[in-house]
Formats: sequence, C-alpha cells, structure tokens
Amino acid sequence: MRHSLSCWAVLTALMLLPTQLSAQINDPSAMEFNARDYEYCLVCHGSFGQGNIAVKAPVLAGMEAWSIRNQLQAFREGWRGSHSLDLVGMEMAPSARALQPSELPTVIEYITALPPQTAHATDAASEAEIDLGKTLYEPCIACHGAAADGDQEYQAPALAYQDGAYLLRQLQHFRDGVRGSHPKDKRGARMAAAASGLDDAAIARIISYIKSQAP
Ligand code: HEC
Ligand code: HEC
Repeated sequence: MRHSLSCWAVLTALMLLPTQLSAQINDPSAMEFNARDYEYCLVCHGSFGQGNIAVKAPVLAGMEAWSIRNQLQAFREGWRGSHSLDLVGMEMAPSARALQPSELPTVIEYITALPPQTAHATDAASEAEIDLGKTLYEPCIACHGAAADGDQEYQAPALAYQDGAYLLRQLQHFRDGVRGSHPKDKRGARMAAAASGLDDAAIARIISYIKSQAP
C-alpha cells in the first residue's frame, strides 16, 4: 500500500512537471533572450551578415533597425513570403514566424550590431548604363534618397549596400504583384506602384546606378 502511494506521488510529480515547464516557456517575461541566440540567422545570411547569393539571402549587416522591424513584421503577418510565386520569401518566413514578439528587440539589436560589410562586387556596368540608370532612378529619389541610402520618414530602406541580384528580384516581385500586393501591406503598396511600369532592362540600369552609389 505504502509502496503504491509513493508511486502515485512520483507519477503525479512527473505529470505536473511538463505543465510547469511549458507555463514558463509560454510566459515571455520568464525568458531571457540573448543576442547570440540569433547566430542561426547567419547560417543563411552569411557568417558576417554579408548575404549569401547561393541561397539568395540578402545582406543584413548595415540594415537599419526600423527596416529590420518592418520586414520581420511583413514576413510574420504573411504580407511577404506567402504569395504562391514567392518561393524565396518562403525560405525566410518560417524564421520570422518562429520568433516570439518579445524576442524582436533582441534579434534587431543583434542584427544592427553586425559591422557593415563592404558591398559585393557586381558586374562592372559601363558609364553609359549608369547614366541611363541615374535618369531612371529620378522618381525613386523622393523616397529612397539621391544616394539610395534610404529615408525613414517614408519607411523606404537603403538600397546601395544591398546585393544586385536581390534588388533585381525585389523590383521584379513588386512589379509582378508577388510582393506589396497583400491588402494590409501599405508600405509594400507604395513601392509596388513605383515599380509597376519598369521593364527588366530599365531595372538592370537602375540597379547599376544604385550600385555605383555603394558606400
Ligand atoms: C533558411 C534561410 C534563412 C534563415 C535561417 C533566415 N533567413 Fe532571413 N532571409 C532569407 C532569404 C532567402 C531572404 C530573401 C527573401 C526574398 O528574396 O524575398 C531573407 C530575407 C530577410 C530579411 C529582409 C531583408 C530586406 O532587405 O528586406 C530580413 C530582415 C531577414 N531575412 C532577417 C533574418 C533574421 C533576423 C533571421 C533569424 C531570425 C533570418 N533572416 C533567418 C533566408 C533566411
Ligand atoms: C512612394 C515612395 C517610394 C518610391 C517612389 C519608391 N520606393 Fe522603393 N520602397 C518604398 C518603401 C516604403 C519600401 C519598403 C516596402 C516594405 O516595407 O516592404 C521600398 C522598398 C524597395 C526595395 C526593396 C528593398 C529591400 O530591402 O527589400 C527596392 C529594391 C526599392 N524599393 C527600389 C525602388 C526603386 C528602384 C524605385 C524607383 C523606381 C523606388 N523604389 C521608388 C518606397 C518607395
């Protein structure tokens, strides 16, 4: 009798334990987030956040806090990375959705602490292409700035530090309704309107101008 009683005590304790543990995990205030917890982001984004063209992951080092917050929100809300043609965005979305809201300040702090990386070498564009690109870039200046260094007032990110292949894909996605077409994506909608009339040749020239402004 005594024996079976203590058995029940142990069993009950074992059954309670996971409940207590999960209560702690569900209570964000009970969790301490450490910037180093986000090193896994760099598995795709390059060990210095310099981007990795092989897996189409963009440069993160040098990105501004407000822009990281906007994009993590877009992926988490499904404004970005949920369109059926956005296969590359779908590579990113699960990492954003897996974050607890209370983790966001720490992950943003981690990314903004990465030292800016020297821009990728891109195919050298001719002066003539860059000049044509400069003219085509004029309508973009109002939001992204003349040196493509971004403008928080318009929530328009810096572009010059980013890799050209990524910029190309984003401009095509905005133009083709793959990004910026979600009804709740107000920031994306402003950008989609700006990309709507661009053909691939114009986009390539614009990027050669943007890259000529790289820091
Ligand atoms: C499995 C690979 C992978 C992992 C892991 C990953 N990312 Fe990404 N991330 C990507 C890809 C690919 C894109 C580009 C999506 C596109 O082209 O639309 C991206 C895009 C982004 C962007 C948007 C950049 C911009 O200029 O708009 C941010 C911000 C970002 N990732 C942050 C993170 C953070 C923070 C983590 C860790 C919590 C993380 N990523 C983990 C692959 C990954
Ligand atoms: C009305 C303001 C506005 C104009 C004009 C505009 N943009 Fe944007 N652009 C934005 C905003 C806002 C975003 C961020 C969208 C988001 O949060 O997803 C953006 C995002 C982008 C991105 C994606 C950056 C990234 O890191 O993912 C690229 C590339 C871009 N713009 C290029 C251009 C080019 C090139 C032009 C001119 C043809 C242009 N934009 C004109 C507001 C604008």
